Amino acid sequence: MALDDGAIGRGIAPAGASRGAREAVDARDGGERLGGFDVRGAVDTVLTRVAPRLAAVELDTPLAADRVLLELDDSPTKSAIGGNVSVATSIACAQAFAISAGLPLWRVLSGDAPVSVPLPEVQIFGGGAHAGRRIDIQDLMVIARSAQSVEQALEMTAEVYLAAGRLMAERGALAGVADEGGFWPAFSTNEEAIEMLLRAIEAAGYVPGDEVAISLDIAASELRTDHGYRLALESRSIDSAAMCALLGGWLDRYPICSIEDPLAEDDIEGMRRFTRAFGKRVQIVGDDFLVTNAAFVEAAALQGACNAVLVKPNQAGTLSEALDALTTARRMRWSTIVSARSGETEDTTICDLAIGWNARQLKVGSITRGERTAKWNALIRAEQALGAAAFADGGWLPVSTRRG
Ligand code: PGA
Ligand code: ZN
Repeated sequence: MALDDGAIGRGIAPAGASRGAREAVDARDGGERLGGFDVRGAVDTVLTRVAPRLAAVELDTPLAADRVLLELDDSPTKSAIGGNVSVATSIACAQAFAISAGLPLWRVLSGDAPVSVPLPEVQIFGGGAHAGRRIDIQDLMVIARSAQSVEQALEMTAEVYLAAGRLMAERGALAGVADEGGFWPAFSTNEEAIEMLLRAIEAAGYVPGDEVAISLDIAASELRTDHGYRLALESRSIDSAAMCALLGGWLDRYPICSIEDPLAEDDIEGMRRFTRAFGKRVQIVGDDFLVTNAAFVEAAALQGACNAVLVKPNQAGTLSEALDALTTARRMRWSTIVSARSGETEDTTICDLAIGWNARQLKVGSITRGERTAKWNALIRAEQALGAAAFADGGWLPVSTRRG
């Protein structure tokens, strides 16, 4: 996106391997070439349909281009122009506005409102759709609850990551990394993976729970079949109530502070049951379940399902719609987590969104791979500009094993 004053903004659309059924759908060429994933058609849409409309627009606010994008396609799944067309354009225009203003994007997004440098949620083991379904759980992550700066949180996380690598090597189980840079999960049960994560936290010298807590993304929609939830490692399927009980057992035994998509996107009753049972003991995050949609967030909150939202701009299709989902969640007194995708790029705009919109947490995958470190480095730079006082520490996050 080039403005009249010469400012140029860029935006890149990410992609996800484990997608929600109701999220914005990317425009892809299909056919034989590049497995059907090429985006020449999407680029053509940008040049022939979006650009001429934008040329006539006065970019008077960072998200002003979204009005045009929504006029072209206001469907929730962006079926007319494609979610990738929409989100990349939305990001490029916001970045162009910030460059023209000579300010970081987070600053123009926040205006005079408070900002915070979000708490990192970092993957140590990848699983599910991100690791050939080697284990059922998709993400085994840590949150440095006691850290007082993003720099300290990342250092503590890196110590846990290194310890996990040492423990895996001792067992002869070190086999590279998964999609988001976490270690490949060479385990024979799901619980063995959680157990190993706990041992890595201890081996790194931290108190599990108090200092470094466990965070899981079950991505349960991926396990859903006609016969309930399929646990491939255990060669069995269980119903929704049994799934709640299984996860509840983990919450009892392990110091878990956050659990994402514990039930499937179409299992609203299960999500309500789980939230009723465990909502005071742990953060319950809706990802596929809510697909960054303000109306779904509001409905879930009113029905007592989940207590936190994952905000992925490309699920919504524009930054304005992503902001809408985030502010709706905040209005319902939920916590908010801005998130990257498994098919991520070097674009660091999500860091600006998390800071400028005052989200408390950021989920980006692991601390390896350049598309991930680009985000953590952007956070560190923001913290250097804002000071550690702006850091959103995780001391408030409940830990599942603590009573009362
Ligand atoms: P995805 O995974 O980008 O493959 O959807 C990330 C997540 O589930 O949080
Ligand atoms: Zn998820």
